[in-house]
Amino acid sequence: MTSDTTTNYARDIWQKDKDHHLHPWQLFDSFADEGALVMDKADGAWLYDIHGNRYLDSVGGLWCTNIGQGREEMIEAVTEQMRKMVYASPFVDMTNAPAALLATKLAELAPGHLNHVMFSCGGSTAIDSAYRLIQFYQNCRGKHEKKHIIARDASYHGTTYLAMSIGGKKADHPPEFDYKRDDIHHVSSPNFYRYGNGLHQDQYLDFLIDELEQKILEIGADKVAAFFAEPILGAGGVVIPPAGYHKRSFNLCKAHDILYVSDEVVTAFGRCGHWFASDSVFDIQPDIITCAKGLTSGYLPLGATLYSDKIHNVISEPGHGRYFAHGFTYSGHPVSCAAALKNIEIMETENLFEHVNDVGDYFASQLQTLTDLAIVGEVRGVKLMQCVEFVANKETREIFPEELDIGKVISNIADKKGLLVRPIINLNVMSPPLIITREQVDFIVKTLRESIEEAMTALTQSGDWAGN
Ligand SMILES: Cc1ncc(COP(=O)(O)O)c(C=O)c1O
Repeated sequence: MTSDTTTNYARDIWQKDKDHHLHPWQLFDSFADEGALVMDKADGAWLYDIHGNRYLDSVGGLWCTNIGQGREEMIEAVTEQMRKMVYASPFVDMTNAPAALLATKLAELAPGHLNHVMFSCGGSTAIDSAYRLIQFYQNCRGKHEKKHIIARDASYHGTTYLAMSIGGKKADHPPEFDYKRDDIHHVSSPNFYRYGNGLHQDQYLDFLIDELEQKILEIGADKVAAFFAEPILGAGGVVIPPAGYHKRSFNLCKAHDILYVSDEVVTAFGRCGHWFASDSVFDIQPDIITCAKGLTSGYLPLGATLYSDKIHNVISEPGHGRYFAHGFTYSGHPVSCAAALKNIEIMETENLFEHVNDVGDYFASQLQTLTDLAIVGEVRGVKLMQCVEFVANKETREIFPEELDIGKVISNIADKKGLLVRPIINLNVMSPPLIITREQVDFIVKTLRESIEEAMTALTQSGDWAGN
């Protein structure tokens, strides 16, 4: 194509998208003028837009391109399965080999007695499936009142009506949408930096556990079915709860016969250096784990809800004539499952988590060097799940006015320098592919530093920031 034809094609795609494609989280006002950045190609950790500009994708798609893009062996595995069979119904009593093999593999990798798997189409539907499973389980036990859910402020569990109602991120709850409120409750986000209020970490932890216990007692332990928690709150700001929080909240749930649902849609499959963070990083064995994203490294959509023998024994007890009226056309889709199997095989044969443990610590330590900048309040994370929090004043931790959108100001500058970071209000979040190299880490940190410095200069000049 000549360069004119390429430019016309790029413009045409941009226009068509603007006219007809409603994006997740579309900001209608700015989108009407600006439309979307059209991405065109990818290779490893790099993305290329339709004009040929190259970006290092430190976001890993959306926390998902774990093994990196363009892997021939994945393409072959998917193609081979497509040639053989693209689809067979998973309903009632029909299955396919990739689904059976993947369920078995996940049971082997998952902690404790999570030996059963329900497949879905992504993270939100894995959460919905967990919720329906919990209802089914409690009804089977005759505990018809035990249906209430406790989750946390700033949590993100997806975007179906239910998943969004369980989620506690205020910014994701615009008033134009409605939410299920009757039996879903929230307790504090365990964010010590933001809400520690001068307490010692131990006191803050006591406060969080006490608050959870009070919430259980207020609703009535006989009415609380489950606690939903991400091991590290992802979209809510890469919040790592204080040491001991997971164990104590888990024990509290156990003491009150409450199921513990660990939402590992982000943290599983190597992001924190292990298959699952619940047991390997935080030493708990949940009753249910939801996962998606890194399960196929974004090559194809797939979600999974892993649940315990204990739950399975109750719901499948013989003699009741029960049937599990839940699942999707694409549950256990053979091609998605084939992709997940190959993805897991690659992670195993390449010892990818060893690399994550090494490069993840390097990434964390290099990002920490940004804390000398006047608007960097905190850098936090585990391995390849990191975030930089910006503040207008380091002493008081005062945030920039929300309308200033400081995270976006900085990510826009970084875009132009060939680096993608994810802006979330006053944060830049990063979750690069697990194959990221030290050189690429250096590029991320250097470029982010330059972008923050440029933003500080611009904000000073515009009078939006007085410095500190
Ligand atoms: C922790 C968590 N749970 C669930 C979801 C929803 O996953 P999906 O977008 O695949 O439905 C996400 C997505 O970012 C997530 O971060």
